[in-house]
Amino acid sequence: MRRGDRGIVLGLHRADPDRSLLEHALSLGVRGIDTAYNYRGFSSHRQLARVADLLGEFIVSTKVGYFPSDGAGQPPQHSLEPARLRQAIEQSVDELGRCPDVVFLHNPEHTLRDLPAEQARDRLDTASVTVVEAVAAGWCGAWGIASWDPRPVAAAIRSDLPPSVLLLRSGLAVAAPILSAADELYRRLDIPHEGRWGMSPFGGSTTDPAWQAIGQAGFLTDGQQATTAQVAFRLAYELPAVTRVAVGTTHRKHLEELVAGTELDVSEAAVARYRQLLSQQVASTTA
Ligand SMILES: NC(=O)c1ccc[n+]([C@@H]2O[C@H](COP(=O)([O-])OP(=O)(O)OC[C@H]3O[C@@H](n4cnc5c(N)ncnc54)[C@H](OP(=O)(O)O)[C@@H]3O)[C@@H](O)[C@H]2O)c1
Repeated sequence: MRRGDRGIVLGLHRADPDRSLLEHALSLGVRGIDTAYNYRGFSSHRQLARVADLLGEFIVSTKVGYFPSDGAGQPPQHSLEPARLRQAIEQSVDELGRCPDVVFLHNPEHTLRDLPAEQARDRLDTASVTVVEAVAAGWCGAWGIASWDPRPVAAAIRSDLPPSVLLLRSGLAVAAPILSAADELYRRLDIPHEGRWGMSPFGGSTTDPAWQAIGQAGFLTDGQQATTAQVAFRLAYELPAVTRVAVGTTHRKHLEELVAGTELDVSEAAVARYRQLLSQQVASTTA
């Protein structure tokens, strides 16, 4: 039986789409897939097209902003140039065989942080208009911004051209200044709750010994049993408050564990206390 949407987005940054995992995901109520034009060596969309019969059951988000480099062995180039973004969106639709539900500008800070303030504003503005036009032309359902470090985005974005979705890091691995920038962006752009998405709840890995230190560190209300991964995942919906979280996993059991984790009841007081400690940290570093 396919369950209702759990607000979990299967991220394909580190793994190719796997048919049996996607079918299992649907049976568990996982309804999101997040990918990008450049994921898996620019092949992720073509890989997804191999499971085209399942794609209609998912909310599919993708991202544009990284392009193949000129030289072999070089890292992908970042660009917010409208013609390149437009071409990447059109190619994404062709390769996926369907319009993505959301197209994100991918890490715009990569380009913005090296520009003078005025140029950064212009560059983000023209890039935003490009994706707004793609939505109007029917190439995608909505547009968004996905950012690892939202501070250069906050400095450059126009409040009267807000994205429908902001995909930002969430959870215990997020440093205080990043969390504070996320809060500020959500507030200033008046992003509705359903447009607030989190990502990378484990900061990319669960093997760091620091995760064992959080254990059951008082974040849950009384009487609940949970693994460390479940507590960390559940908190990714609170820090900052988001409705969807993009997480990477290649394991059916891990996915089941995450799904069960969404049912946990978190202590509001513990989250508030943690946020207060982070705010004090931001205040002391900016004083
Ligand atoms: N700037 C951007 O746009 C950006 C940046 C980063 C991430 N993202 C999005 O967010 C998604 C997730 O990020 P991510 O993959 O970097 O990091 P992540 O979700 O924080 O961590 C993924 C790691 O967690 C492990 N894991 C997951 N569930 C587990 C469980 N129950 N128990 C133990 N280990 C578990 C996975 O291993 P197993 O495979 O063994 O489960 C994998 O190694 C990406 O795929 C992408 O869609 C976007």
